Amino acid sequence: MRWIRAAGRGLLVAAVVLTGYVSSGTHADGAPPGGAGGGGRGPMTLATAGDLTGYLGPLLEGWNRARPAEKVTLVELPDSADETRAQMTTELRPGGGRFDILNIDVAWTSEFAAAGWISPLESSRFPLDSFLPPVVDTATYEGQLYAVPYVTNAGMLYYRKDILDREGERPPRTWPELERQARTIAPRHGIGGYAGQFLPYEGLTVNATEAVYSAGGTILGDDGRVTVDSAAARSGIGFLARGVRDGWIPKEALTYKEEESRQAFQDGRLLFLRNWPYAYAGASGKDSKVAGKFGAVPLPGPGGAGTSVLGGSNLAVSSSARHPESANDLIAYLTSGPVQRRVLTEGALPPVRAEVYQDPELVRDHPYLPTLRQSVLAAAPRPKSPRYEQVSLAVQAVMHDAMAQHQEPGAAVRRLAGELAAISRRS
Ligand code: GLC
Repeated sequence: MRWIRAAGRGLLVAAVVLTGYVSSGTHADGAPPGGAGGGGRGPMTLATAGDLTGYLGPLLEGWNRARPAEKVTLVELPDSADETRAQMTTELRPGGGRFDILNIDVAWTSEFAAAGWISPLESSRFPLDSFLPPVVDTATYEGQLYAVPYVTNAGMLYYRKDILDREGERPPRTWPELERQARTIAPRHGIGGYAGQFLPYEGLTVNATEAVYSAGGTILGDDGRVTVDSAAARSGIGFLARGVRDGWIPKEALTYKEEESRQAFQDGRLLFLRNWPYAYAGASGKDSKVAGKFGAVPLPGPGGAGTSVLGGSNLAVSSSARHPESANDLIAYLTSGPVQRRVLTEGALPPVRAEVYQDPELVRDHPYLPTLRQSVLAAAPRPKSPRYEQVSLAVQAVMHDAMAQHQEPGAAVRRLAGELAAISRRS
C-alpha cells in the first residue's frame, strides 16, 4: 500500500507543478529559466522519476532547512522510465527549462550530453573515487563527466525458498536449471514459473540485453558497430521466447513492468522473478504473502552466472539551470556518505558509495547487499549511444515479437541488426 500511495502522491505533485509551469514558462518560484543569476546560487527544482518509497521529500527537507535561499523543489514524474524520459526531454527542448537538476537513468547520459541538454561537470567537485567502479562510467560521455552517479542497480533472481526447500532443490545457477524448475515445480504448486519486465518499454530492453549478455553476446560494440547478429544473441532471445511458448513464463508477464512483476511475486503467484533490489523490501513487507519465504541470488546464464545490466540513475545539471553553483552543491550533498546510507535505509535503493556495502550493521538489515555488490561489480552497461532511445525502442519491439511468438528468434535477431544499422546511419 505504501508504494501505491507514494506513487499516487508523486503523480499529484507532478500534475500540480506541471500545470503551473506549462502556462507561464517560468520556474516554481517565478524566476525565469536560463542563466546563472545570483552568482549561480538560488532556488532550484529537482526532477525525478516517481519516488516509490516517499523518502526523497523528507531527505531534501534537511537541505532546505539548512539552505533556505537555495531551496530545492521536488518534481516527481511517472515511475516508468519511458514516461519520465518523455517528460524530461520535452522540458529540455527550447522553450522548456523548468528542471534545474535531473535524476536521469544511467542509460540516458550519452544522449542527453550529445543533445546539449546537460552541462559538463568538474570531476574534482565529487567523490568519484568512493563509488563502486562501474557506476562512474555511466556518467561520462566522450571522456567528460556529465552527471554524478546517485543510485545504482543490478538485477537479481528472486526465488521461493520455501517451495524449493520442500522440493529438495537449490536455487538455479544456470538457465537449464531455472527452466527445469520453472517448468516442473511451479505447476505442481499452481503458480507461474518465471517473470521479469516483459512489457515493451525500457524494462524489456534491460531483460533482453541481460539475456544476450548472459549468453556471451553484445548489441553494439564500443565503437557503435552493430554486433547483435550472433549465435549468442539468438540463444538469449530464444531462451525468453521459449519460456512463453512452453508456458513456464506466464503470458500475463508480457504486460509486466517492475511493479506488476513485484506484485505477482509477493502475492505468491510466481516461483522466480527477475527484478531490482527495491523489490526485496516490498516482498518482505507486511502486505506480502512471501515475507520470510524467499531469497535472492545472482542472475543465472546458460552455463553458469549470467550478466546483469547496470541500472540506476545519475544526477545531472540542466544546461538552462538557473543556479548551477547550488545545483553542484546539492549533487555533492546527495552523494555524501550520510545521505547515501539513507538512500538505502529509507529509500530501499542501492547506493553508489562502496563503503555502504561493507557496513556490518547495514548488511545485517539488508542481507542481499553482498549479492548485490557482486552483481553491480559484474554488471555491464547498456549500449552507449547518442540515439539511445531509438536503439532501445528497436530492442523492445523485436524482443516483444519474439516473446509473443510473432517472429522466430533467428529472424528477430537479423531484423534487430538491420534496424540498429539503419539507426546508426541516421546521424
Ligand atoms: C530501473 C533501473 C533503470 C532502468 C529501469 C528500467 O529503474 O534503475 O536503469 O532503465 O529500471 O525499467
